[in-house]
Amino acid sequence: MKDIQSLIAQMTLEEKAALCTGASAWTSTPVERLGIPEMVVSDGPHGVRRVPDVHALGAQSLPATCFPTASCLASTWDVDLLRQMGTALAEEAIALNVDVLLGPGVNMKRSPLGGRNFEYFSEDPYLSGELAASLINGIQSRGVGTSLKHYAANNQEFQRFSIDAQVDERTLREIYLPAFEKAVKQAKPWTVMCCYNKVNGIYGSEHHSLLTDILKKEWGFEGLVVSDWGAVHDRVAALKGGLDWEMPGPQDRRVKAVVAAVRSGDLDEAILDESVRRILSVVFKAKQTPKDGEFDVEAHHELARKVAAEGMVLLKNNGILPLKGQHHIAVIGRAAEEAHFQGGGSSHINPTKVAVPFRELQAQAGNAELTYAEGYPVDNSFRPEMIAQAVGLAKSADVAILYIALPSYKESEGYDRTDLDLTEQQVALIKAVAKVQPKTVVVLNNGAPVAMSTWIDDVAAVLEAWMMGQAGGGAIADLLFGKVNPSGKLAETYPLKLTDTPAYLNWPGEAGEVRYGEGLFIGYRYYDARQIPVLFPFGYGMSYTTFAYSNAKVSATTFKDVDGLTVTVDVTNTGKVAGREIVQVYVHDRKSGLARPPKELKGFAKVELQPGETKTVSIRLDFRAFAYYHPEYKQWITEAGEFDLLIAASATDIRHTLTATLQSTLRLPCVLDKESTIREWTADPRGNVVIAPLLQKMGEMSRQAFGADGGTEGIGMDIMEMFMDMPLLSVLLFQQSMLPTPADEMVDGLLLQAHSMK
Ligand code: BGC
Repeated sequence: MKDIQSLIAQMTLEEKAALCTGASAWTSTPVERLGIPEMVVSDGPHGVRRVPDVHALGAQSLPATCFPTASCLASTWDVDLLRQMGTALAEEAIALNVDVLLGPGVNMKRSPLGGRNFEYFSEDPYLSGELAASLINGIQSRGVGTSLKHYAANNQEFQRFSIDAQVDERTLREIYLPAFEKAVKQAKPWTVMCCYNKVNGIYGSEHHSLLTDILKKEWGFEGLVVSDWGAVHDRVAALKGGLDWEMPGPQDRRVKAVVAAVRSGDLDEAILDESVRRILSVVFKAKQTPKDGEFDVEAHHELARKVAAEGMVLLKNNGILPLKGQHHIAVIGRAAEEAHFQGGGSSHINPTKVAVPFRELQAQAGNAELTYAEGYPVDNSFRPEMIAQAVGLAKSADVAILYIALPSYKESEGYDRTDLDLTEQQVALIKAVAKVQPKTVVVLNNGAPVAMSTWIDDVAAVLEAWMMGQAGGGAIADLLFGKVNPSGKLAETYPLKLTDTPAYLNWPGEAGEVRYGEGLFIGYRYYDARQIPVLFPFGYGMSYTTFAYSNAKVSATTFKDVDGLTVTVDVTNTGKVAGREIVQVYVHDRKSGLARPPKELKGFAKVELQPGETKTVSIRLDFRAFAYYHPEYKQWITEAGEFDLLIAASATDIRHTLTATLQSTLRLPCVLDKESTIREWTADPRGNVVIAPLLQKMGEMSRQAFGADGGTEGIGMDIMEMFMDMPLLSVLLFQQSMLPTPADEMVDGLLLQAHSMK
């Protein structure tokens, strides 16, 4: 590795400023006289989009394997598989001369309408963070960098370049930041990409608190922060905020602005040097991996098929699947011939090859006759004659399989969805076919939940096949014929209808602002708290076998927060075929100082079982599994008390509930001040001691004056109850005439006592 400090010392101010901006759409600025090479980056996240001409942003890229997109990856809940996929991605990056792959994306699925949800993992930060960390570890284990994006609160496409996401601190810390935090701490991505949007009034590219205080200082991020493409508004302000590398380039005016700012004293050169240091560290690290060779197209296609099969989710099955003994299969829907396997936008891959779903089905259908009808058009027109043709085929077949893909004009990067619906033609097609053919199976290709209430009861089975990657057509056939037993589970809730969704009233914002009014309550946290029924819950997915959970145990019934806990449970395959089960552990805090979601995912494991086989699954819960972020203390805190540990097959299928008592080892600072209410005084361990004699006296006085219940001569109320949520100062001011000292002085004295107590 080069001596970076001595290189920085040799660089001119102009060279340093230039390095902090790209040389082209995809490359960094080299400094030839000092032997500083260029670095090549490419999208990301589920394939390598290497554009041959680095000045062409949206040109056709070189062929690469298109793996399934993140919604499908997340539904695998399989950290080992994601790691394996990461190494394959790195091999392709190496062969295509790419130093850093721009992904993964870990933004939360705040609303199912988010146009880019297909590129993100989940509505749950814990799951997203675990999966992202594995993928990053896989990619980086081969010496290729990653870019964790889009940091932070980039949860919609509507006005994504400018919208101001108004998110309270606790919600940011508990929902929108933890996936980034986990990935940064567990996998050390070489780069983090900032978001386009503003967060609480400040652009992501200039956000000192997010980029410098939290990411770099608090989490110890050592890599470089790159802007999303075109996210920088003021280059100098961005450097001050902690944005190291502006992309794309070249941006001569901005380079000049940086030079001028240093010369005028507006920008401390040490800040520029720090960004240069971070960029050079990544550039030289990247160059340690020689870029060359070829990748194994067939092996990666097979891996993409495996990942797709693991991530697809069987949502409904009345017993029709797996298919067997059919003589005539009606295959309906243009997605059977034209595989819909990825989303539009910057993640769009030029695949090495594409498995055609119809042909893959035929390959496994033995002697069965397969017939095909297109079923719906490529555009949004309504075509009754296509439905009639499909109905004709379905009627005479033993089974009808409908391949239904949500069209890209309804779902893509760059615009949000406006509803959760399939097209009018697709819904009419499903209903018409199901009417004549009770054995109708619907296979869906989409990146985010669709509403199904109007047709799901009419059909025999539904397979969520996602944006399944180039090999997904084969994976569908594997699952339909039972060559692979479905094991994917949803990483996001499928709501019954749009108006049920958490952000419905605060989406997508107006007047340049979107208020995250639902706070912590997104996804299952919201449906749980509101007790709103859903179509399919978070964590749900069917199998061709069944699993029994028994012998659930917790390692200790009383434990210290810093020690954490281990939960174990025996899982038995009680069916006739081998299968894989995803065990989930949710934590419920029985009593907390601030409101908490009814339960939160804090651990999971995927286990493979032969028929009749039992394995013990062990899941570790650490400090953070029990903690929540307290905005007043500005830290993650635990509170002593009882916690329920829910061992579950989905968010609504709780198999065992264990209980353990947490002992908090935290000694929190006293945060009482002159505005603190009596309830806050009593909730604070020191405040409670200090205020106790005063409260007792006040209680006596009130009883004497008004009787225990307020009395007829009093004011007909429990005055002490009213006092509880008044600032102590206000209560004392009420009673000043009866007090020996001025109320202000009394409160100052009590505060001094509380703050100086050990
Ligand atoms: C997207 C990023 C992407 C970049 C480069 C941006 O518009 O938001 O995810 O990496 O373009 O293509």
